[in-house]
Amino acid sequence: MKVNASTYNVHVGEGVFKALEELLASDKYKNSNIYIIADENSVEHCLPILLDEVESLKEAGVLQIESGEENKNLQTCIDIWGALTDGNVDRKAVVINLGGGVIGDMGGFVASTYKRGIDFINIPTTLLSQVDASIGGKLGIDFERLKNHIGVFNNPQGVFAHAGFLSTLSYEELRSGYAEVIKHGIIADADYWKKVKRTDLESVEDWDDIIFRSIEIKNKIVLEDPTEQGARKSLNFGHTIGHAIESSFLGIEGKHLLHGEAIAIGMICEAFVSYKIADLPLNELDDITDYILALYGKQDIDISDEEGFMNYLKNDKKNQAGETRFTLISRVGNYLVDKQVSQDLIFEALNFYKKER
Ligand SMILES: NC(=O)c1ccc[n+]([C@@H]2O[C@H](COP(=O)([O-])OP(=O)(O)OC[C@H]3O[C@@H](n4cnc5c(N)ncnc54)[C@H](O)[C@@H]3O)[C@@H](O)[C@H]2O)c1
Ligand SMILES: [Zn+2]
Repeated sequence: MKVNASTYNVHVGEGVFKALEELLASDKYKNSNIYIIADENSVEHCLPILLDEVESLKEAGVLQIESGEENKNLQTCIDIWGALTDGNVDRKAVVINLGGGVIGDMGGFVASTYKRGIDFINIPTTLLSQVDASIGGKLGIDFERLKNHIGVFNNPQGVFAHAGFLSTLSYEELRSGYAEVIKHGIIADADYWKKVKRTDLESVEDWDDIIFRSIEIKNKIVLEDPTEQGARKSLNFGHTIGHAIESSFLGIEGKHLLHGEAIAIGMICEAFVSYKIADLPLNELDDITDYILALYGKQDIDISDEEGFMNYLKNDKKNQAGETRFTLISRVGNYLVDKQVSQDLIFEALNFYKKER
């Protein structure tokens, strides 16, 4: 299966490795050196499969970095730029990002800036990176505690999503990525939302179909609005309150929340706001709330420090001129962007989450 994304294709499911082999065999890369950027987990679980499947990668160099968001920083970029420089890597070379969103964001950024830009290809190996991070062209690193603060927009030459890689991912990581799948259904496609709800995460048979549909949805939105003036803001559903929750948990020792776990809470709260001011029917709010709580359980969120929480919300990169704007839904499958929401309503929504079941 293939999705056309402006200048490149996203391949999913059967034939991904053959398509990759074809791209690498094209005239463009005939004499190119290939460097695979990966972390210790994708080296252990994914690299052997990739090398087994794609003959032309046997000679590729492997640059292994340490996994984790805390390494998505300038120092790791310096290490990779340094290794490329030491290896006399020229502008014809191509970088393959084999890993989750950390590898994709940072590997793409490093490639886009090395010698003013060399080609890169994404082989996302987490659900989150397959359905979200590897497409859309946002690349970058964290800087001085600010997430994705330094970066560029640039597209890969191709994305190759192999669902088989998901088998070694922990359930928590899988469920975290699934929050973006849930979001895609809620903002863009009521039928897909039904399928998403029916799927048992512990025994998924058709990952390819899910990954493909999610990529189709994200890709369509990104093509419509690459620089996030309108439609692309729909992808922020659940992320305004979700990011604030994610940030608020960072300060609490031993209480780490994965991105999708925070977004799950954000989606319930923002569905509640949608019910209050965007005419979302009560039964749809209940449906969203029930489903998400059943899948993710209930987190004990502390919102006693209202001002502190509002600061997290206002610090969001998406804000302009200090104003927080929300993406809401008027129905499952229908979004509204740039909605103003009062502080009172934000806390009513957080309290709704706290009180539900
Ligand atoms: N560019 C974008 O549009 C965009 C969108 C969403 C998220 N992101 C970024 O993506 C990052 C999060 O991505 P992520 O959730 O993939 O995190 P990640 O890259 O940290 O991967 C999560 C963990 O899974 C491990 N792993 C990767 N593949 C594996 C496999 N097949 N089997 C076993 N373990 C495996 C990794 O080593 C890591 O420990 C964040 O930095 C976020 O900012 C970017
Ligand atoms: Zn997200």
